[in-house]
Amino acid sequence: MKVVILDDAHAVADYGADLFREQLRKSPASVFGLATGSTPLLLYKELIKSNRKGELSFAEVTSFNLDEYMGLAPDHPQSYRHFMNREFFEHVDIDPANTHVPPGDADNPLTACGEYEDKIRAAGGIDIQLLGIGRNGHIGFNEPTSCLVSRTRVKTLTVETIEDNARFFSEDEFQPQLSITMGIGTIMEARLVVLLATGESKAAAIKAMVEGPVSAWCPASALQMHPSTVVIVDEAAASKLTNPDFFKHIEAQNQALLARL
Ligand code: GLP
Repeated sequence: MKVVILDDAHAVADYGADLFREQLRKSPASVFGLATGSTPLLLYKELIKSNRKGELSFAEVTSFNLDEYMGLAPDHPQSYRHFMNREFFEHVDIDPANTHVPPGDADNPLTACGEYEDKIRAAGGIDIQLLGIGRNGHIGFNEPTSCLVSRTRVKTLTVETIEDNARFFSEDEFQPQLSITMGIGTIMEARLVVLLATGESKAAAIKAMVEGPVSAWCPASALQMHPSTVVIVDEAAASKLTNPDFFKHIEAQNQALLARL
């Protein structure tokens, strides 16, 4: 797990966006794993800017989102499909037919989960997976106690997550308590994982994820077993790490080495 500590949320987004740009340069027909939440918004803005300037194209990209609320149709303003259309897809040249979000309104969610896995496999697997992290260490909607080799499935949300996300729903609006999420096993098969976290509220989750133990109690800690994960955090999210200076030293060494190549 590579940990990169930067000054602020803008630097985090820039660094993350560069990894996506690099992936697109290597392979214009890449398969992206995408995430919702407030954290990736700045990264999406960066990618939209590059697309508008003609520096990169998503025309050949296929995407799979991590998760969706169960019970929300794609046109519901709080659905993750709606979020992705509004915040990213509508602003770039990606073919909407190649964008996938788990179907929150599926007649049979159990079959839909298997079909989602099949589609990821048929696309050749995920090249680069974007992640945020919940305050309780969840990734996607893999809440604490999730099986560390789980596949796409229906998950019950914790009270903490429901409360954290209540800000997006009005008081009298139906707020789902169930979700469909890629499993931790699904995420672990992505070739590169890019996890972003900013702000003090994520500091405890980042410490648990990076320093371990690997435990279902902090689902993100499974990434310690992933061969190619980059964790990009601002100073606030890194503030509970035992030795942040060591990670800064490693990154400085890496950059110096790259400059010599
Ligand atoms: C939701 C999403 C996660 C996301 C998390 C953190 O629960 N399912 O994928 O990482 O929220 O969101 P935020 O970035 O808004 O803190």
